[in-house]
Amino acid sequence: MDQPRKPLIANRCRLRRREFLCGVGASFALLAQPSRVIAKDGASAAQNEFRVVTARTGYASLLGASGPPTDIWGYDGTCPGPLLKVRRGEEMKVRLVNALPEPTTIHWHGLRLRNAMDGAPNLTQLPVPPGSSFDYRFTARDSGTFWYHSHENSSEQLARGLYGLLIVEEPHDVGVDRDIALVVDDWRLSPDGSIDTAFRSMRDASREGKIGDHFTANGSPLFDIPVATNERLRLRLVNAANARIMALRVDRHEPTVMALDGQPAEPFVAREARVALGPGNRADLFIDARLAPGSTSEILLDTGMREVAIARLVYAHARARAAPLGDMRPLPANPLPERMDFAGALKLDVALDGGMMGMMGPRGLAGGNQTGQTSKSGPGTAPSRQGYSGAAIWSLARRASDGHSARPLFSVKRGRTVVLAFANRTAFPHAMHIHGHHFRLLDRLDDGWKPFWLDTVVVPAGQTWRIAFVADNPGKWMLHCHMLEHQETGMATWFEVG
Ligand code: C2O
Ligand code: CU
Repeated sequence: MDQPRKPLIANRCRLRRREFLCGVGASFALLAQPSRVIAKDGASAAQNEFRVVTARTGYASLLGASGPPTDIWGYDGTCPGPLLKVRRGEEMKVRLVNALPEPTTIHWHGLRLRNAMDGAPNLTQLPVPPGSSFDYRFTARDSGTFWYHSHENSSEQLARGLYGLLIVEEPHDVGVDRDIALVVDDWRLSPDGSIDTAFRSMRDASREGKIGDHFTANGSPLFDIPVATNERLRLRLVNAANARIMALRVDRHEPTVMALDGQPAEPFVAREARVALGPGNRADLFIDARLAPGSTSEILLDTGMREVAIARLVYAHARARAAPLGDMRPLPANPLPERMDFAGALKLDVALDGGMMGMMGPRGLAGGNQTGQTSKSGPGTAPSRQGYSGAAIWSLARRASDGHSARPLFSVKRGRTVVLAFANRTAFPHAMHIHGHHFRLLDRLDDGWKPFWLDTVVVPAGQTWRIAFVADNPGKWMLHCHMLEHQETGMATWFEVG
């Protein structure tokens, strides 16, 4: 069932070849190669089963129907891209066609999939050059709310709109009347409505990252959700922003958190009807619609200065039933590890350093850039970029890297428990994300853990937070800050599960 993987052509990935020749080859894995786009009439029946997703230019009404349209980059030219849906246990088959002027990949954020399909450029695959395609094919092990996004030149490609929602459906009905997603983003727009193209700003990168001030939910400045009194609504929230931590509140309702980062949690009522999501985080809420027919209630984003409505619950229908439904049953569990062996765990301190008020000095990134061998050489060469390209502003475990350096942060035998202590010694929060695994957030005072799983956790400035996971997914996995300007200026690395 695996797609054929061709051997590497040496000059297309000299870094890999160098690793091989240097004898790091024990863990050497062939990087999956993009292929040239096949003419339509040449496609076989089997190939037609792939859902084709084209990364291309398009436009979106980010300022509303009456405002000027904004030119974007989007999957199938839309933002968010097409909703991708698969049932748990089924195979997902997506053919990415790159119609952009530069290389790209798709990363399936939060999915515990096989490594070759993870979309990490120069780590699990070569970036897909313009005019080429790449077939992603994997089984969805976990049901829940996930998203997909570019992982190449991410700070620019995501800011231009290259992301979408991926829903893996539960094996059975979960007892809601409506299932609505809000993919929330903040944009930095010029007065004419176009995307501000000052990407890779040193100023942004050395502070909290690129923060926008135009908010959208599902690409719209105010997204209306029609509801009926006494309905139960499932609301899937996704923070797709480059760097903003989003504090969201549902006015006059009492949401129950059912899942975080795609994984079912022990349900709990959100305090003050608020949830805070770092970049990349998701939350699944169940909300009983208890207002009277004709009411409207806002979903608000707290900017720190004011609350901005990004969506509304509009009671547009007649009463659905006489009273709200009863208890909320937890979502069906996914096959996550039931226990962790802390005695035999690999324990690692991961210091987070750098940034404004903690600058590291002008150094280059370790990895591809340092060796002078990057994806920027050879076919699919990216146009030269303005801004911080290659600069080291942040570090992770005392190394500034772009996430595909020759050496992993650690290597671990499959099945071992890993405990990482993120010590944030910077003046800014960081959204620490690992690929291919979900982790537990450990309590700070005792040895317990929080009653949920995450794939991304915001570590506040000045604090040390510990996470634990079972490294049970073989391959090379990225670990990075999901504030994309931080990721690109040093706060990225990878680990290997053998
Ligand atoms: Cu959502 Cu490595 O990223
Ligand atoms: Cu960061």
